[in-house]
Amino acid sequence: MGYVSEDFLHDAVNKATCDLFTFAYRHVVKPHAVFNVPPDKAHERMIDFCRATGRVAPLMALLHGMLDYTDPVLETSVMGVGFANPFGLSAGLDKNCDMPVLLDNAGFGFETVGSTTSRPCLGNPRPWFHRLPEYDSMLVHVGLANDGSAKVIDRAERAWTKARSLQMSVSIARTNDDLVGDLDEGIEDYRISLERAANRTAMVEVNISCPNTHVGEPFTEPKNLDRLLDSLDTVKRSQPTLIKMPLNRTWPEFRDLLSVIADHDVQGVTIANLQKDRTGLVVPKEWKGNLSGGPTYAAGNDLIRRSYREFGDRLAIAGVGGVFTPAQAYAKIRAGSSLVMFVSALMYRGPQQITVLKRGLAALLRRDGFEHVSQAVGLDA
Ligand SMILES: Cc1cc2nc3c(=O)[nH]c(=O)nc-3n(C[C@H](O)[C@H](O)[C@H](O)COP(=O)(O)O)c2cc1C
Repeated sequence: MGYVSEDFLHDAVNKATCDLFTFAYRHVVKPHAVFNVPPDKAHERMIDFCRATGRVAPLMALLHGMLDYTDPVLETSVMGVGFANPFGLSAGLDKNCDMPVLLDNAGFGFETVGSTTSRPCLGNPRPWFHRLPEYDSMLVHVGLANDGSAKVIDRAERAWTKARSLQMSVSIARTNDDLVGDLDEGIEDYRISLERAANRTAMVEVNISCPNTHVGEPFTEPKNLDRLLDSLDTVKRSQPTLIKMPLNRTWPEFRDLLSVIADHDVQGVTIANLQKDRTGLVVPKEWKGNLSGGPTYAAGNDLIRRSYREFGDRLAIAGVGGVFTPAQAYAKIRAGSSLVMFVSALMYRGPQQITVLKRGLAALLRRDGFEHVSQAVGLDA
């Protein structure tokens, strides 16, 4: 009888459970429990499910046992923060911090909660979402609905201290309500949330690029961004800060923003937010919002490559947009991303997608002779 090592067996079980989850999500859960109701309702259900199951420790242990996949080739350190793997949930799905226990047990390297704002915020009138499955995309028009940064950051801090290995990032944005005033009011709004977050999470992301608010994006103008960051620089904090960048900018405009950012107490940029350009896509005009998923992929990669080339020695890049496969994650890394985030893949493919991405990326890195994921960062830039 041949000897079968414990590692080999664990790996085989992990692969089989991952395939089983993929099948079950595609053929049972998605058609019968997610896509059979309007997307706003499906989102509520998913949050309720995460909140409820996260409290059942044996269930979480089971999930961890079945799905988690660790591999030294995926471990990395970015901006002084250690990660079990470079994959994180991007901002927007877990606005109020209801998902960390589930994501931790499923094996995410980190998650970004929020975006959250200094005042609790109701967001835009519903519907917030429309599905565009033919483009692997969601049309998003939430407008920063959330419970407010005081509560959300308390929850994030508590979740972070209890997590197995999940690093927590909090995305802060400007409140989208009737009390919004001038630029100084906007700066003060961000500042309040940053003061609340200081030293209480692994990272902070400053979202200057939400395309769904009624004040627009004034801090994507270089002069205004400079003023905002002057103020945020005075908030003493130990964790690194990233800026969530807009997608729809020409390279000279984007580079001007990066030049401003590089002069401040900021360690990284997240590239990028939702796609506003609907050119070539069949999307009903009356549907409000901006696109996630497929339509963000190519434009995001281009900005990542150019940013890495000119600012790679100054700013870390977290790449996000249209990552559904290990090959797409690898392309983001080779373009210059040290971290890779996703939202749409979780909605369209299911919770085991984190394992699919980790397993596949590890295989691609080994195929190309790398010992650590960091060695591949920026090779195609
Ligand atoms: C449902 C949903 C809500 C989002 N809300 C936010 C948000 O509050 N703040 C933010 O910075 N980005 C938000 N985004 C943008 C995502 O973080 C991400 O940049 C974008 O969806 C591209 O990634 P994906 O293709 O993996 O979905 C949201 C995206 C989706 C799908």
